[in-house]
Amino acid sequence: MSGIESVLQENRLFPPSPATVSAATISGQAAYDALCAEAEKDYAGYWARLARENLLWQKPFTQTLDESNAPFFKWFADGELNVSYNCLERNLQNGNADKVAIIFESDGGEVNKVTYRQLYEKVCQLANGIKSLGYQKGERAIIYMPMSVEAICAMHACARLGLTHSVVFGGFSAKSLQERIVDAHATLVICADEQVRGGKNIPLKPAVEEAFAMGGCEHVRKVIVYQRTGGKVNWDANRDVWMHELAANQATDCAPTWVDAEHPLFILYTSGSTGKPKGVQHSSAGYLLHAMLTMKWTFDIQPNDVFWCTADVGWVTGHTYIAYGPLAVGATQIVFEGIPTYPHSGRFWEMIAKHKASIFYTAPTAIRSLIKASESTPASHPRNYDLSSLRLMGSVGEPINPEAWMWYYENVGGKRCPIVDTWWQTETGGHMITPLPGVHGLKPGSCTMPFPGIAAAIVDETGNDVEKGKGGFLVIKKPWPSMIRAIWGDPERFVKSYYPADFNGKYYLAGDGANRDLDGYFWIMGRIDDVLNVSGHRLGTMEIESALVANPLVAEAAVVGRPDDLTGEAVVAFVVLKQSRPNAEEGQKIAKELREWVGKEIGPIAKPKEIRFGENLPKTRSGKIMRRLLRDLAKGAEITQDISTLENPAILDQLKVAQ
Ligand code: PRX
Repeated sequence: MSGIESVLQENRLFPPSPATVSAATISGQAAYDALCAEAEKDYAGYWARLARENLLWQKPFTQTLDESNAPFFKWFADGELNVSYNCLERNLQNGNADKVAIIFESDGGEVNKVTYRQLYEKVCQLANGIKSLGYQKGERAIIYMPMSVEAICAMHACARLGLTHSVVFGGFSAKSLQERIVDAHATLVICADEQVRGGKNIPLKPAVEEAFAMGGCEHVRKVIVYQRTGGKVNWDANRDVWMHELAANQATDCAPTWVDAEHPLFILYTSGSTGKPKGVQHSSAGYLLHAMLTMKWTFDIQPNDVFWCTADVGWVTGHTYIAYGPLAVGATQIVFEGIPTYPHSGRFWEMIAKHKASIFYTAPTAIRSLIKASESTPASHPRNYDLSSLRLMGSVGEPINPEAWMWYYENVGGKRCPIVDTWWQTETGGHMITPLPGVHGLKPGSCTMPFPGIAAAIVDETGNDVEKGKGGFLVIKKPWPSMIRAIWGDPERFVKSYYPADFNGKYYLAGDGANRDLDGYFWIMGRIDDVLNVSGHRLGTMEIESALVANPLVAEAAVVGRPDDLTGEAVVAFVVLKQSRPNAEEGQKIAKELREWVGKEIGPIAKPKEIRFGENLPKTRSGKIMRRLLRDLAKGAEITQDISTLENPAILDQLKVAQ
């Protein structure tokens, strides 16, 4: 697996300072070892203890792990609780009522602080409003909203009533939205009139209408609209309801609907190896437990911390480390509507200084773009801001290259702040492999060690452990509480994707390649399936291919990734048109059109960076597209592999040129 050599050359080690160790919740190697040993000795007992200590149960569970229908595992199944109650009432009861829960900063820089009591009341009013519209436990709600207190309230209002939410990132197109509404069989949509990013108003409600017009959404009874900008919207008086009007006269208390531990809290769609996004279904209790534990142990959250996760609630990071985790542990957190480069690329650092953020969690792609910006615009360099409030930093979403890690460590963290490089996935619910700040020495680019209780390992195709120093498939050998429960509506695909029989059927297959160095540190090499990671966003190559071939001009398409300095990976599409291969000028015009098309079919994040046209695609005599060859072509590498089985070698020259 590529990249292993560079990994083995990385031997910088940054041990935790004695002060960090002594102040940390999990303090020192012995404390970590003790937790791992406890899990090893009595796996179910370990998680049961933590679930009893951390979650507020309406009805205590008596059974911890049910493996009778593996790999459809159940955790704490006979217990009852409510996730929103665990995040809100908990804080009213333990003295946090007047503590600031959310420091919201808008794109334009206005700040709005919301205490736990205010948040509770806002959630209850909205929940009562939703109830008044006749919604009941078990229904599904699609949330298509910008980063806002209201989006978090919408998620909690659903959780409070036992509605399963599915948040759709505001950057997804009407078509993607429609597919999710249909697949989840949603009966409620909660959206905003518009969102504001980088000083621009971007309509959201029209996309909902467009989605409806595509058909298949007839089960949606109501659309609740958060008025973000007051921009003009079309209105269907029978269907549409303003959020502020709905909530206005509602009671500020709303008793939670108790649900089973396994009740689906949310579905979140993510890309897989085949064309259709998968609806990753998460539980209530197990999910929340891991959100809390990782807030406590990975982020070492303390009462006076100001936590800032820069993700969007449209992604899993925004679920676990904005909407649920920080609230369940009573933290004060920053929620940011905008983008890191507006009105200038020092915005993140300015906000850290302004709000005295102490824990900062972001993605390598953001760090890389801010490195670049600080080179071209020195005023935006972090050295110009007072970042002394920071004590811990995190990274998530893709492998962080050691150079970016060092820059982050030195220039943002002032060489004082440990970096937790957290490896996890939509499917895992929370961190799986990550340093704990008071335990692990850090190596730039390594996510270090498994979270206590997580049985991460690297194996070969037959499921046998590989020796340290060798690459292989990253697996999780035992089920864990916050794991994916199902792919919504497609149990077969769940088994095939994560517990494939031709592998060994027993371990959760993450879809990443990894390596463990001689010290036992994990190094993630990236996806081994047809999934790309562009700026930390997961995109299926097949999804983009399906979008391209749906265009009337396109006969055939193959999509691969190529390394990109800024975005990690970039999308390169090889396209065969129904008409003959275009000349350069025509090709540019069609490439532009196809990029826009993909933006409309999926969302702007999926637009190919490069499109190359050929009369055909390189195929073997049996008709299989040679993807490895395409990957080499995409990155401009010399073709060293055997092309003797290639049906049509002449087209390689055509595909070498970008249009
Ligand atoms: O390839 C891994 C990469 O992101 C994938 C999961 O993507 P998604 O489900 O969208 O969740 C992203 C946020 C958790 C993984 O299969 N990935 C995530 N975190 C890291 C990472 N790769 C390397 N290091 C990480 N810290």
